[in-house]
Amino acid sequence: MRTTAIITILALTGLFQAPLQAGDAGAGASAFNAKGCVGCHGASGKKPIANYPVVGGKPADFIAGELNRFRSGERNNPIMGPMATALSDSDIANLAAYLATQ
Ligand code: HEC
Repeated sequence: MRTTAIITILALTGLFQAPLQAGDAGAGASAFNAKGCVGCHGASGKKPIANYPVVGGKPADFIAGELNRFRSGERNNPIMGPMATALSDSDIANLAAYLATQ
């Protein structure tokens, strides 16, 4: 009985921890400046330099997905690869939450 209860609690806790981390848009806004993203992608991610992509206003799952792909090297880019390698999972979630609201 007691073992079952403990296992159930562990299973439920695991379920709550596993899915997508919800990002904090406020922390993402700070990170967007502090980590230098703004230097290339511009204010709110909407005024990029050169022909760099607009990232502001894009869906959070797209932003997080592309940052994860740069970080893993699956999407290979000499500029964004090192930028993304320096990001933690929560940085990515926060940046995605912020950019999606721009
Ligand atoms: C030195 C310039 C530079 C900096 C700094 C920079 N980026 Fe980028 N970013 C780029 C370029 C160039 C691309 C396009 C890469 C490609 O063609 O694959 C890009 C692509 C992206 C993409 C994919 C957009 C798409 O439409 O596919 C995202 C998301 C992104 N950057 C977010 C960020 C974030 C978040 C930061 C800060 C942690 C950041 N970038 C910092 C230059 C930069």
